[in-house]
Amino acid sequence: MKQYKELSPPPRTIMTPGPVEVDPRVLRALSYPILGQFDPAFTELMNETMEMLRGLFVTDNQWCYPIDGTSRSGLEAVLVSIIEPGDRVLVPIYGRFGHLLTEIAERCGAEVMTLETQWGTVFDPEQVKDAIRQFRPAIVAMVHGETSTGCMQPLREIGHFCREQDVLLVVDAVATIGGVPLYTDDWKLDAVIGGTQKCLSVPSGMAPITYNERIERKILARKSIERGLRTPGDEVNSRRISSNYFDLAQLQDYWSPARLNHHTEATSMLYGLREGLRILHQEGLDARFERHRQNGAAIVAGVKAMGLELFGGDEQRLPVVTCIEIPQGVDGERVRSMLLDDFGIEIASSFGPLKGRIWRIGSMGYSSSRKNVLHVLGALEATLIHHGVNVPAGQAVQAALQIYAGKEEVIC
Ligand SMILES: Cc1ncc(COP(=O)(O)O)c(C=O)c1O
Repeated sequence: MKQYKELSPPPRTIMTPGPVEVDPRVLRALSYPILGQFDPAFTELMNETMEMLRGLFVTDNQWCYPIDGTSRSGLEAVLVSIIEPGDRVLVPIYGRFGHLLTEIAERCGAEVMTLETQWGTVFDPEQVKDAIRQFRPAIVAMVHGETSTGCMQPLREIGHFCREQDVLLVVDAVATIGGVPLYTDDWKLDAVIGGTQKCLSVPSGMAPITYNERIERKILARKSIERGLRTPGDEVNSRRISSNYFDLAQLQDYWSPARLNHHTEATSMLYGLREGLRILHQEGLDARFERHRQNGAAIVAGVKAMGLELFGGDEQRLPVVTCIEIPQGVDGERVRSMLLDDFGIEIASSFGPLKGRIWRIGSMGYSSSRKNVLHVLGALEATLIHHGVNVPAGQAVQAALQIYAGKEEVIC
């Protein structure tokens, strides 16, 4: 048989909006021996993970657990479990991932109304409130931090309004959870979906979610026990959730003391997530938010010092993703290739209307460090000069150092 060389990924500094570098402690946890999924030693780890997730989402919700799959599996699990054909769903869109929510809601058979604003801007909460008054949706689905545009939507006012109007609010916090303040209970968010491969710095492959009893009521009304697990008297529910894998009514049974069998748990990923959450609890949420804010501010200061244009306004900036307009006449992909090949640094391009127009520098999780920020700014400056861009030499790193010295302009 053909022989293949040993796996040896090149060392990288990953400054994209995900996946990002993973803490070596998490990598170690991923390599521990497998436990059976009903072994009490493992179910204890499951319970601890749920408890730590309550701290991450800042909630008293009983239901906080990961879906096995990438972040969109969490989005899909929540939406398919609560949307019934014909339900009205409002999706305010300000970037690529609002379109993803729309797509999922449509596939669930919802009557979807979208509200769009130009990429690089966010909504005035009044616009969303007006759309709710007009359309009278059962559910609003929104993105908290848009990695495609580097913008962040304030949600507190929208959350309180949805609660007053008895509308369920589902939030994609894939990019923000663990890096940017988000308060599930205080903001009255009914369901929140996070991501592992961004500010939590765990590999991609799980999606932590939380939801409250308002969502749970909807899910339980659709509960149907799987064929093969039914006992006499268990009926098929005519409102049954159309996905088996993403059926939260079954999944919450699996995560409850009943431990009703569903899928085979992704044991190693759970070890990784638990270690990532343990690190977050040790650092403390506020300290973690401050680290992300400061590193984002240092990147912004460095980019401005190079004379480059930031994409999107300062007010709605997502502190963990800095978007930069590619200067006229510069081939953005050649710059990215040089950063990767000569400096071992990865930054991102963007999608849709922003393809070829902006670069995106992420500063998330373990990648959100002073070392990485100074490294990427120095490398970007050298690369731009190499490509003939008129950039003042040496200013970017100095501007970032000023931020670290405490001489900050408020940007987030
Ligand atoms: C805001 C947001 N939502 C959803 C997703 C989808 O996540 P995944 O690719 O892990 O399924 C991403 C991925 O980048 C994202 O940035």
